[in-house]
Amino acid sequence: MKALQKVTIQTLRKMKSEARKVAMITAYDASFSRLVDQAGVDIILVGDSLGMVVQGGANTLPVTMDEMIYHCRSVARGAERAQVVGDMPFMSYQASLEDGIRNAGRLVKEGGAEAVKLEGGADYAELASRLCRIGIPVMGHIGLTPQSLHQMGGFKVQGRGEAAAKKIVDDAVALDQAGCYAIVLEGIPRELAGEITKKVGCPTIGIGAGSDCDGQVLVIYDLLGMNEEFRPKFVKRYDNLAVRIRTAVEEYVTEVRMGVFPDEEHSFSKEAPPQNATPYGSARAAGGSSHGIDPEAAGAACIPIPIRPRDK
Ligand code: KIV
Repeated sequence: MKALQKVTIQTLRKMKSEARKVAMITAYDASFSRLVDQAGVDIILVGDSLGMVVQGGANTLPVTMDEMIYHCRSVARGAERAQVVGDMPFMSYQASLEDGIRNAGRLVKEGGAEAVKLEGGADYAELASRLCRIGIPVMGHIGLTPQSLHQMGGFKVQGRGEAAAKKIVDDAVALDQAGCYAIVLEGIPRELAGEITKKVGCPTIGIGAGSDCDGQVLVIYDLLGMNEEFRPKFVKRYDNLAVRIRTAVEEYVTEVRMGVFPDEEHSFSKEAPPQNATPYGSARAAGGSSHGIDPEAAGAACIPIPIRPRDK
């Protein structure tokens, strides 16, 4: 079967020149990475938002480099076509250029990231430029930058008012000139995002920045409706997994308590299974897990999982 063409920084620039929109999404583990890759996203961001949606924190500030590397490595294993971008966590690059270079290098070398993202404007243009020269592509991130939560006085829309808007435009231009291959525009008025998108050569990726950006990004847990309490204006829910997951698990709990699960179909018998009935490998390829069952011993006794063409 033909290998999928990997999304590169060149692909993304070409997409902008051809007015094709870029679809980016966050993921934090191999299973979600695999699914969103199969769904056709162009970029998978291992965002430091994991500090909130995975770790349950109130903000992204406590996330460490080691945690980012751990999640990046998992996501990189699941992505075949999409570009994998690792987020630089708070204080991994702010104290010195050397910190930034060393930590960006770790995300690529140890985490398998193909690019890094860092929050901040013109102040980080020099770091961005150094990283690009080393060979590490950089995605900028301006507007509402969650790592500056305390400076901003909360998660608030940025760039309202002439001076604030001008500062964001200047930041975008500085990052573009420094060599950033894309810039995330978060939480800014859509008119401002449109102006920046026209002004810079690299693609802009919006989140809460309207439809005139070159692409869009959402946190996967928000898009899937995993947190019923979190409903900001910029998030569109494409599913309500909070309800669906709870319902499925409630059904499992009931069946376990009633002794309905496992039934005959989901149990092993003394007799050896027929040869070649269902290879264990297909369960792995479809994202299944062994949960400690020896593949050889399980063999054809695995539950058949339909194999799509790309799994072959
Ligand atoms: O950490 C993150 O997920 C992000 C995106 C929301 C852009 O920075």
